[in-house]
Amino acid sequence: MAEGGRKAFVCGHPIAHSRSPLIHNHWLRTFGIDGSYTGLDIAPADFARFASDFPSQGFVGGNVTIPHKETAFASVSRRDEAAELIGAVNTLWLEDGVTHGGNTDAYGFAANLDEQLLGWEKSRRAVVLGAGGAARAVIFALQQRGFRNIRIVNRTVERAMELSHRFRGVATGHPWKALPDLLGEADFLVNTTSLGMHGESGEVPDLGRLPDQAVVTDIVYVPLQTPLLAAAAGRGLKTIDGLGMLLHQAVPGFERWFGVRPQVSPELRTLILSDI
Ligand code: ATR
Repeated sequence: MAEGGRKAFVCGHPIAHSRSPLIHNHWLRTFGIDGSYTGLDIAPADFARFASDFPSQGFVGGNVTIPHKETAFASVSRRDEAAELIGAVNTLWLEDGVTHGGNTDAYGFAANLDEQLLGWEKSRRAVVLGAGGAARAVIFALQQRGFRNIRIVNRTVERAMELSHRFRGVATGHPWKALPDLLGEADFLVNTTSLGMHGESGEVPDLGRLPDQAVVTDIVYVPLQTPLLAAAAGRGLKTIDGLGMLLHQAVPGFERWFGVRPQVSPELRTLILSDI
């Protein structure tokens, strides 16, 4: 296929909410690449076939979002290490003639913190709220960066325990009611739940016990300042919002499909902010 005609996609169901086309089309314009990146609404029943068939439809690859990340994991011929450990695929590409799946969420989480908070990985005692796919990506990133004392706290404690087995030796599972005590000895709090996400209700945990030097981060980015971040800021704690993770997780895919490594620039952040 001609270099200029490269076609990539983001597929989900629904897909209208995805900011990925805004991000990738901004980079395509920035580099003057004659390629395209399009949102595709693919129903669950059709996804497995699409994941193995996208090259024959003229695509070099693309992103996968809700609800297809687990099916993508099962549908590709090869997976990278992050995808294997997280159990979900968010990036597809063709390599050596076969479909590959990777997961860039953990990369995006760590790269955002690298950009925003020098030495963040030196904090050692992390509490992760949630035990779904997003928590798996965050815990994988924390493990990669040397965290060995990760407390997973989840409303459904069984899921927290299950996840702690997947990350045996670095993570333990705990019920929601253990949170105040765990916060007392944490210096890094990450929310991966939809708690506080636009339209979601639920009680924001009391952050009173968190030490003053603790950092609070949320992977939710709509709204940008979640109730949890607002509570942390109110206490004078350092906070990091979820938008940077979204922007950084897009970088490796763009580089694979279009051959150029893009920047997460202030202009890009402003562009996406104007859409939130
Ligand atoms: P994702 O892949 O985005 O992580 P998920 O697998 O559906 O999505 O997981 C959502 C997480 O948010 C879960 O940890 C869920 O808790 P349960 O396992 O108990 O369902 C958590 N969650 C969602 N709404 C919540 C709320 N109002 N309060 C606390 N936790 C909530």
